[in-house]
Amino acid sequence: MLQLSDISALQSQVKRWKVSQQRLVFVPTMGNLHQGHLQLVRQARSSGDKVIVSIFVNPMQFAPGTDFDRYPRTLKDDTQQLDTLDVDVLFTPAVNDIYPQDLEKTTKVIVPGLSDILCGEFRPGHFVGVTTIVAKLFNLVQPDVAIFGEKDYQQLAIIKKMVADLGFPVEIQSVSTIREADGLAMSSRNQYLTPEERAKAPLLYQTLQALKKQIDSGASGFPEYESRAMLALQQGGFRPEYVSIRHAATLAPASDNNSPLVILAAAWLGTARLIDNIAV
Ligand code: PAF
Repeated sequence: MLQLSDISALQSQVKRWKVSQQRLVFVPTMGNLHQGHLQLVRQARSSGDKVIVSIFVNPMQFAPGTDFDRYPRTLKDDTQQLDTLDVDVLFTPAVNDIYPQDLEKTTKVIVPGLSDILCGEFRPGHFVGVTTIVAKLFNLVQPDVAIFGEKDYQQLAIIKKMVADLGFPVEIQSVSTIREADGLAMSSRNQYLTPEERAKAPLLYQTLQALKKQIDSGASGFPEYESRAMLALQQGGFRPEYVSIRHAATLAPASDNNSPLVILAAAWLGTARLIDNIAV
């Protein structure tokens, strides 16, 4: 595995592969890799000729005063894990090379609407940071395929819309959420949980499963069910931001289950903000 931090070195490598018509598959990450990420990399390996993984903790998607500084950076471990998965290039650019100017002066990519609801309502500017870095990385890496996790369902929907709206020649693939044995979705932020909080954390997925069961058996009047799910989380020690039943394709609020739905939730447990979702 070649580790490149230099943007022009990456671009030269990409150019050589493009000339020899290699199919490039890209997995963007912020590092601190867990089984969820490794599953994305395995799918990448079977989806093309060359696999490029990036590790870049993107300051633009963190609001001031949130966890940018304490976000776990574990490059040595990450490199060892990627080495075993037959990755061709690990791209680890520096913040100053990606954003040579102040973030306020940097050109942004905005997907309006979808970026302002659900997590976007509670993390203003977050998805602008995500779409800006993903667009920049797509321009640098020029992948044929890019792979994202379904745990970040809203992020995936926003990236698909950005790709469609801006005509990026990139096929977006997704991979199902990987869970711990007790159902907790794998996330780098799970390590912010104390042992007591970790024991409570599976309640988030259990709440989504219970809500899905109710919808599957014909529940109507979704707002009432959403409120009850929020209450269950509160009683279990969480500070929920939202539990919301949405149309899977558009993320518009749903009022019946005549089309595919997704239930999404975000809730704080101690200093960890956890998100999860389940298809109905
Ligand atoms: O999902 C993530 O890890 C990040 O949001 C991404 C897509 C790598 C952009 O920084």
